[in-house]
Amino acid sequence: MINKRVETAINEQINAELWSAYLYLSMSAYFNEVGLNGFANWMRIQWQEETAHAMKFFGYLAERGGRVLLKPIADVPARWEGPLNAFEEVLKHEEHVTALINNLMDIAIEEKDHATKSFLQWFVDEQVEEEASVQEIIDSLKLVDVKGNGIFMLDRELKQRVFVDPSTAE
Ligand code: FEO
Repeated sequence: MINKRVETAINEQINAELWSAYLYLSMSAYFNEVGLNGFANWMRIQWQEETAHAMKFFGYLAERGGRVLLKPIADVPARWEGPLNAFEEVLKHEEHVTALINNLMDIAIEEKDHATKSFLQWFVDEQVEEEASVQEIIDSLKLVDVKGNGIFMLDRELKQRVFVDPSTAE
């Protein structure tokens, strides 16, 4: 049976992951609207990833005999000033998620829950990758000149992103 404090924290994380999914789906809609379909694709894949993160926590709670409690998902923004602004918001959000994961890890350590510590390590590593991939896109966006040269190449590149289910990936 899972520790109650850990159970509550994981339920909060499920909500945070689903909010992240919702945020990126909103960004996908925004990019579709402004005609950047590659960016929209990247965000749609991100939505799938975040949903998979939530389900990874969901499955773990069930496996440990915990109770999943789904709370309402708060509103998300729907407008950004442009691709750079949107991706800067993504980075800010992912840094926040990293802090949430670190906090969860602190709780697991305090509660001497070794199984949860082991489970969370995957998310600690995942956050490093998430922040790095977003930073890379921000760096590319900063190279786009005032006339927008480069944006369509980047859009084509982001169109190539495909979903890899994190529950099956090592
Ligand atoms: Fe589920 Fe982007 O962290």
